[in-house]
Amino acid sequence: MFIRVLVNGAAGRMGRITVNAVQQENTLKLVGETRRSDDLCKAIRISNADVVVDFTDAASVFENTKKIIAANAHPIIGTSGLLSEQIKELQQLCHEKQHGGIIAPNFCIAALLMMRFSEQAARYFPNVEIIEIHHEGKRDAPSGTAIKTAELIANARKITPTLKKIHETLLGSRGAYKDQVSIHALRLPGFLAQQEVIFGHLGGNLRITHETIDRHAFMPGVILACQQVVALKELIYGLDNLLV
Ligand SMILES: NC(=O)c1ccc[n+]([C@@H]2O[C@H](COP(=O)([O-])OP(=O)(O)OC[C@H]3O[C@@H](n4cnc5c(N)ncnc54)[C@H](OP(=O)(O)O)[C@@H]3O)[C@@H](O)[C@H]2O)c1
Repeated sequence: MFIRVLVNGAAGRMGRITVNAVQQENTLKLVGETRRSDDLCKAIRISNADVVVDFTDAASVFENTKKIIAANAHPIIGTSGLLSEQIKELQQLCHEKQHGGIIAPNFCIAALLMMRFSEQAARYFPNVEIIEIHHEGKRDAPSGTAIKTAELIANARKITPTLKKIHETLLGSRGAYKDQVSIHALRLPGFLAQQEVIFGHLGGNLRITHETIDRHAFMPGVILACQQVVALKELIYGLDNLLV
């Protein structure tokens, strides 16, 4: 028995690799590939997809996810750029239907461990900043991984450091703040995806770094999500929820 998978954004960098990975996995069957010009609702209906993996862009991901849920397919959302309010709205939609889905800011299992270790360190070291570096083609900032890491840190730390007001000679020099964690987003050729979480403490610092050098690093997580989402009854945020 196969799980029927449609890939939305199939012509993009992540979409193309996902199509190949699904084709190579014998528990999954690729039943559709959609691009910007396609009608997603119609494609889900015709293909009878159980699962839709979305790797598109920040401008369309919210509407895409609503369409996937309305069509009774399970959304697996890799696209970054969803706002917290939008995630809550999508979770409510799934809750009403007892319908499973996954929003995964990062499908790379090593990156998930980097987030988990950061969460652990935050209990001891509340002063922390995040530097995320991505290829120059990434269209949004900061990355979904950086936002998710900041949220995990904010929930885990026992003390929230008071942010000292400083004068920024250049506006934005101190980064952008998510839950009082400063995030600095770099966009450069020579990188694919890297994140460094830097904890400062009295007399030293702890740096937790993860780097992705090839997009195939995301595929074991995408396949795991496709296999497990059909049994879920809610929309979960973060693939770490599936890691025991
Ligand atoms: N969660 C993770 O682990 C992870 C890992 C890597 C990347 N990402 C995220 O995944 C997303 C895609 O990344 P990428 O590198 O593959 O980007 P990309 O190469 O720009 O691919 C995006 C593709 O989606 C298409 N598209 C845009 N809007 C669409 C719509 N409404 N319906 C169908 N297709 C649409 C684009 O078409 P056009 O060319 O016509 O615009 C393009 O082919 C980004 O948000 C990125 O940050 C997540």
